[in-house]
Amino acid sequence: MGAVILGTGSCLPDRVLSNHDLEEIVETSDEWIRTRTGINTRRIAGKGEETYRLATVAAQRAMEMAGVIAEEIDLIIVATISSHMLMPSCACFVQKELGAVKAFAYDINAACSGFLFGIDIVDKYLRSDREKKILLIGAETLSSRTNWEDRNTCILFGDGAGAVVMEYRDEARGVVASNLCSDGNLWSLLCMHNAPSSNPDLSLADHPGTHILMEGREVFKYAVKAMEGAIVDLLSREKVDLDSIGLMIPHQANIRILNKLVSRLGIPPEKVFINVQKYGNTSAASIPIALDEANREGKLKADEFILVCSFGGGFTWGATLVRW
Ligand code: COA
Repeated sequence: MGAVILGTGSCLPDRVLSNHDLEEIVETSDEWIRTRTGINTRRIAGKGEETYRLATVAAQRAMEMAGVIAEEIDLIIVATISSHMLMPSCACFVQKELGAVKAFAYDINAACSGFLFGIDIVDKYLRSDREKKILLIGAETLSSRTNWEDRNTCILFGDGAGAVVMEYRDEARGVVASNLCSDGNLWSLLCMHNAPSSNPDLSLADHPGTHILMEGREVFKYAVKAMEGAIVDLLSREKVDLDSIGLMIPHQANIRILNKLVSRLGIPPEKVFINVQKYGNTSAASIPIALDEANREGKLKADEFILVCSFGGGFTWGATLVRW
């Protein structure tokens, strides 16, 4: 029937940064962060934990679960906004590390929605070329692009990677459909500039730096409405009602966004997988990390619908339905 996830894997850096640790860095408190975001800790990459290295380990774990070896992989896609280099892509470094000699490799950027958008690419790719095995990874080290003096943003983000191996199967499972959206008019509410331009004609008069910039309140309001709309439209188009969803795996941005989304949809909270308290917002890595944890905890049941949704810079957002 479609693109099936054969294996999942994830990799988190060793170092844990708690809210109390952040109290030493900016003027904030454990209580403020917990009540406003639901985050208790996040992981921060150290030496030897560049984005591609986290991505490689996540991929190895997914391949091990799938029973697939590197030489069998045909395509590697990494969703990221924090690769250690702009060129070559993070995916090419992963290919080299894995020894996936047959694969071609490239990155995609849809910010926090990158992995969700990647699922759609893989689904469509596999429908037209059924013999392929594809590695889809979401990986970030946003700690390298965080302004550690800005308490509005530095408390939110964390590092990590998650991966899936996908293949076409003629079975009644796999990706059912996606509903993806973008609105570039809202770019400035959540953005990250490139390095200053060396072409004076293209340089900004007042370059704001290369850190994450965010209008938190605006993002909050838009994120809830956007994800709700994408989910409602997708489910009605596919004639699937919320009661038949086995588990919802949302992008782990913030507990208040998730609580509001869950209550507006009317989905029982026990059907929503949440790990934002441990890892914060890991952008494109958040969904595959959550998917891997849910999978390894036995929360993904054969034949059930999994509803995945995301929201991120762009703005980009959407929802995807998978039959497990
Ligand atoms: N610690 C303590 N105080 C803080 C703080 C921190 N880390 N960050 C901000 N504050 C202060 C502000 O300076 C402000 O103080 P003031 O009233 O004296 O000016 C006050 O807290 C309220 O700030 P505000 O930005 O209005 O807070 P908020 O209730 O909107 O919460 C966010 C801030 C970021 C938690 C919230 O807007 C949010 O979750 N937005 C979505 C962010 C997100 O998920 N982005 C990624 C999407 S993929």
